Amino acid sequence: MEKKNIDWSKLGFAYTKTDYRWQSTWDNGEWSEGGLLEDPEFHLLESACVFHYSQSCFEGLKAYTTEDGRIVTFRPDQNGLRMIDSAKRLEIPPFPLEKFLQSIDEVVRANAAWVPPYGTGASLYIRPVLFGSGPQIGVAPAPSYTYRVFVMPVGSYFKEGPKPIRICVSDYDRAAPHGTGAIKAGLNYAMSLFPTQEAHRNGYAENMYLDPQTRTYVEETGGANILFVDADNNLIVPKSQSILPSVTRRSLVYVGQHYLGLNVIERQVRLDEVKNFKECCLCGTAAVLAPVGLIHTHEGDIALPSGMDQMGEICGKLRQTLTDIQACKIEAPEGWIRTIC
Ligand code: PLP
Ligand code: COI
Repeated sequence: MEKKNIDWSKLGFAYTKTDYRWQSTWDNGEWSEGGLLEDPEFHLLESACVFHYSQSCFEGLKAYTTEDGRIVTFRPDQNGLRMIDSAKRLEIPPFPLEKFLQSIDEVVRANAAWVPPYGTGASLYIRPVLFGSGPQIGVAPAPSYTYRVFVMPVGSYFKEGPKPIRICVSDYDRAAPHGTGAIKAGLNYAMSLFPTQEAHRNGYAENMYLDPQTRTYVEETGGANILFVDADNNLIVPKSQSILPSVTRRSLVYVGQHYLGLNVIERQVRLDEVKNFKECCLCGTAAVLAPVGLIHTHEGDIALPSGMDQMGEICGKLRQTLTDIQACKIEAPEGWIRTIC
C-alpha cells in the first residue's frame, strides 16, 4: 500500500477528507449491519433532533504506526465504553462495543494510506459520532440515529507543539453541577466555544475551568484533563464528578505508578494551591501531553517553575513513556494495543 503524498511532519490538527468512513443507522429498535462509505456528507431532514436539541455525542482516539511497521489503535475499548455511557445519558440507543471496535478496525484498515509513518510525530485521528438523526420537534429523543466514524491524519493540537502553553482561569463554566460534564456530549463543547475564543483573543491556548458549584477547585480545560506535579514529585490528579474521564489521563496515571514509580494522589485540587506545584500539563488524545508554563488567574499569573522553554522533568518522562507505549517501542500493559494490520 502506497502512502499518500503528505508532508506528515507539518500537519496540524484539522479536518482532511480521507477515502472511507463507516456508518450504521438505528431504526425500528436495532442497529443496521453498517459498513464503509465513500460519501463524506450527510443528507438529513431539517427536523433532525441533533440540530434542535443537540442529541449527540462523539469520541476521539488515534491509530499509530509502530516501530515495526504495524498499524495499531490505543485502548479503543475505553472509547467504546465511554460512548455507551454518553449515549445512555442522552437517551441515545448505545452503539454496541463489539460493533464499535469493528467499525474502528475497518475504517482504519480502509484508510491505511492515510496513517502517518512511524517517526513523523503525526498519527491518524479517529472521530466517531453518534446522534439523533430522525425528525423531532417536541422535546423528546429522536426516533432514529446515525453512528459514523471518519478519520484524518493529524499533528500537534496546540500550535506551540510540545512547548509549554499559557492558559487562563475562565469566568465561565463548561459543565453544570450534576450535569453532563462527565460524558462526551457535543453540547459541552458548544458551551465552551465562546469562552475558548475569548481565551484565544487574550493570548491563551486554553481555559482552565473551575468546579461550577463553588468555583474553588480545578476541573479541566475545554478539551483535555489537567495534571500537576507537586514539590515532592507526587502526581496530583484533580477529582470531580463533572470532569470527562480521559483515557489519556487514566493511562498516564498507570504509567506514572507502574513504569515511573510515581506516587499518584487523586483528590480535589484548590485553585489557591496551584502556585505551590512544580509542573502542570494538559492531557488528552488530541493534546497528548501538553505542558503548561503559565496560568492566568484574577489573583495574578502563576508561572510554573518548569518555565516557558521546555517541559518539566516528570511531564517529559510521562509523555515519552506514553508515546513509546503507543508506538510499541516499549511493552504496553495487557489489552492497551489493538493491532489493525
Ligand atoms: N476532557 C475533555 C473535555 C475532552 O474533550 C477530552 C478529549 O477527548 C479529554 C478530556 C481527554 O480525553 P481522552 O484522553 O479520552 O481523549
Ligand atoms: C480529543 O482529544 O480527542 C478530543 O475530542 C478533544 C477535542 C478538543 C479535539
